Amino acid sequence: MSVVGDIPHYPFSFRGDALASELGRFVVEEPVTRVVTNAGARGWLVTGYAAAREALKDPRLSRGLIADPDMPQEDSSAPPLSVVGTMTMLRRAGLRDEAVKGMGPRQTHISLERVRDIADTLLTTMTAATNTNGNADGNANGDAVGNAEADADTELGDLVADFALPWASQVTCELLGLPTEAAPELAGWFRLLSTGEAADANLFADWTKALSRFDDWMTGIGTEGLLGRLALLNRSSDHPLSHQELVEIALFLFVSGLGNPAGFLALCGLVLARDPELAARLRREPRALPGALEELYRWSVMLGDSIARIAREEAEIGGVRVRAGELVLISIDAANRDPAVFESPDRLDIDRRPSSPHLRFGQGRHFCPAAALNRAQTEVALRSLLDTVPGLRLAVAPDRVRWRQDHAVLLPETIPVRW
Ligand code: HEM
Repeated sequence: MSVVGDIPHYPFSFRGDALASELGRFVVEEPVTRVVTNAGARGWLVTGYAAAREALKDPRLSRGLIADPDMPQEDSSAPPLSVVGTMTMLRRAGLRDEAVKGMGPRQTHISLERVRDIADTLLTTMTAATNTNGNADGNANGDAVGNAEADADTELGDLVADFALPWASQVTCELLGLPTEAAPELAGWFRLLSTGEAADANLFADWTKALSRFDDWMTGIGTEGLLGRLALLNRSSDHPLSHQELVEIALFLFVSGLGNPAGFLALCGLVLARDPELAARLRREPRALPGALEELYRWSVMLGDSIARIAREEAEIGGVRVRAGELVLISIDAANRDPAVFESPDRLDIDRRPSSPHLRFGQGRHFCPAAALNRAQTEVALRSLLDTVPGLRLAVAPDRVRWRQDHAVLLPETIPVRW
């Protein structure tokens, strides 16, 4: 743990398969504690479940104010787009409800059959390419190969590059109505989610390039997908969005649909690959999958940053007085491992039926509108993984899986697998 003065620096770790030991300790000993952020600002880190839930629901803690550059910041190189701007613009144009509906369980832009088909195709391609070659040269990237114990005569794939990233990209392109042939390129845009030291001057250039690509697509957008629908309705809005605003909304929604879903699916794939007994049970008992998924949402460590708020007035959170203008960082990952709420919280137990819900999708007025959709789509993708790759297993020791550093959503560099 690095310390600035006597205050710890947050974040502590970029591994998604284990909670940073500092977070585990704070949850129990100091559920609301002082930290210094990547931007060098002081803030309150909320790790305890009760305090995190309270903070997420507290109207005195503002999400809008985090966009104010005069307020303490979590990161010095914040991207030019934010959820704050997206939701505010949609609300002003009277399109928020339509947008929320279009990310909900009853959206009509992409069916679950199609989501399954995308997963099946990716996995069949992965296994076919490596089976034909007898090794991974034509498929998994160099890192995966270098990372795996040498055994060139058996199959080797990479659940990040061959499955999780292209799946999330393709599904989101079809949900939003973006050109599907762009999906492979867009999968690489995960880098837009870098923070901290990795988020150097290139990040701003990357966002600018991405905006320019979306400018072209939104110029030619038809009526397909959620973006097509929003563009159509925008024409009859009393307060229509400008073209530039539509472009920014489109890019932000794409990054939302790529980042968390890819990171979560990759982590689920890693868990199944390193625990063939668990995978076998889920094949034998398909009805256990929804419960397993819910436990994976709880147990997973997904965030390289936090859910940030600024106190607009003095508030007491978890017994600590937070003054107006102070930064509050909520760690969902830590709260979901609070032993006061979840017994033996570090154990992944798919039979667990907790009395309190996990906070993976937030809480209160900003609760993720795509929560139910992501549940359904991820379940379908995992069924595809279980069915299509029956002998799935991790090709390296679990502690040799390398994680990308400095990303807002955690993702391994590669997940080398065999079957
Ligand atoms: C594993 C998948 C996902 C996770 C874990 C996740 C998590 C979250 C969380 C924690 C929030 C609350 C943020 C806050 O309180 O400030 C949120 C909000 C949001 N999410 Fe998700 N999300 C996921 C998938 C998606 C997808 C697929 C989309 C869009 C295609 C999406 C779009 C949004 C939007 C637009 C909001 C803002 C809602 C509002 O402020 O009213 N999310 N998400």
